[in-house]
Order: sequence, then C-alpha cells, then structure tokens
Amino acid sequence: MNQEQWTAVDRYIGDTVVPSDSALVAALEASAKAELPAIAVTANQGKLLHILARLIAARRVLEIGTLGGYSTIWLARALPKGGRVITLEVNPKHAEVARANVARAGLAKTVEIRLGAALETLPKLAAEKASAFDLIFIDADKANIPEYFAWSLKLSHPGSLIIVDNVVRKGAVIEADSDDPDVQGVRRLNEMLAKEKRVTATTIQTVGSKGYDGFTIALVN
Ligand code: SAH
Ligand code: DHB
Ligand code: MG
Repeated sequence: MNQEQWTAVDRYIGDTVVPSDSALVAALEASAKAELPAIAVTANQGKLLHILARLIAARRVLEIGTLGGYSTIWLARALPKGGRVITLEVNPKHAEVARANVARAGLAKTVEIRLGAALETLPKLAAEKASAFDLIFIDADKANIPEYFAWSLKLSHPGSLIIVDNVVRKGAVIEADSDDPDVQGVRRLNEMLAKEKRVTATTIQTVGSKGYDGFTIALVN
C-alpha cells in the first residue's frame, strides 16, 4: 500500500462515484492558478460533507478555513433555498479566490466569507446572537483546533454536527511528546473529547490522494 495506489484509487472513485462538474473543476483550477496550496478536501471527502449536511437537513453551516472555497461549494450545494454558509478565512488572497469560485458556482447569495483570524471573527459571530449552526467544519490552522471546537460548541445546538479535518496527521497524533503545534492541537482536542459530555464523537482514519490523515465527527447531544 502506498501513496501512488491511494491516489489512483481516489482518481478511480472520482471517475465513477464522485464525478466533478465544471464549477468544482474551475474552483480547483483557479486556486492552482492563484498559487493557493493544494490542500482542499478531495472530491470524495467534499461529497461526504455534502451528504452529512443533507442528512441532517442543514440550513446554516459554519466553516473555519475557506481556502479557495472548494469545500464551501460542496457544503453550500447541500442547503435548501434560503440556507447559508458562513466561512472564515484569514488570508485576503484566499478569500478573493474563494469569492470568485463561489460566484462561478452560482452560490454568491448562499455563501458569506468573513475575513480575519477566526479567533477574532468567532467571538463577533457569537455576539450577533444569530441562530445556531447545524453543521460546523473546522479546517483552518490546526494548533487552534481546541479553541475552534470550544467556539463550535457555543455556536451549535443539540443535533448539530462538528467535523474536524486533518486529525490523524500521518499517524503523528499518537506522539505525545511531539513538538509540532499542529499535532498538539489535535491531541488537546482529543483530551477535550475524552471528557466532553455534550458530544458523541468518533475519529476515522483515511488514506487518499492527500495521504494518510483522518477526520473527527462530533454530534452535539
Ligand atoms: N476548507 C478548505 C481548505 C482550508 S485550508 C477546503 O477543503 O477546500 C486552511 C485555510 O485556513 C487556509 O486558507 C488558511 O489561510 C486558513 N487559515 C489559517 N489560519 C487561519 C485563522 N487563524 N483564521 C482563519 N483562517 C485561517
Ligand atoms: C494540509 C491539509 C489540509 O487538509 C489542511 O486543512 C491544511 C493543511 C496539509 O496537507 O498541509
Ligand atoms: Mg483540511
């Protein structure tokens, strides 16, 4: 088992079960052209987010970490008329590319991109006292995952899903003494989850074109 094979199988899944349409392809092409890092979720992962959002009939989605808006498009397409995705991004260039990608996908009215460090925009969002989010996708800087998870609990309701990307980190998550702040971010999340009574959570390891990683899904009780 190796990266070449995982990539080939992801390509095969893309060719069969998860075909991309022109807006998704254009979003990745525009992101590459603007030299954004190629770290968006894969098509099959994006479709999982989409299915989960539909499964819970999500109307309000919060995303932390927009990049070029690829996962944003998968999520926004899951929403009924009047649904909304608020997505938080610190990098103005990423936000600009995302805005164009989202508009090209016909989702400009569904998606709101908020520029700024999420630890600054999350308190503002909470202060607005808008209705809670049905699904929250945490996919920004990994060192702050615990803080994002704490905010997500505040911004959710019983039945909400909180999904956290990149929580296995090539297996490095089990290295207790790691000096990688990203690994320690995930480990702190897991310590929170170990004693958090407000959620029912699991973590799934994944392989694919992005290597060996995983995601956590927490259902708010
Ligand atoms: N969800 C995207 C990928 C996000 S990559 C997709 O799957 O398509 C991570 C993004 O988080 C990057 O665009 C990065 O600029 C952004 N980010 C990093 N630190 C951040 C912070 N403190 N606040 C908000 N966004 C941040
Ligand atoms: C990387 C991958 C991600 O999915 C992400 O959200 C951030 C970084 C990476 O491979 O570096
Ligand atoms: Mg990610």
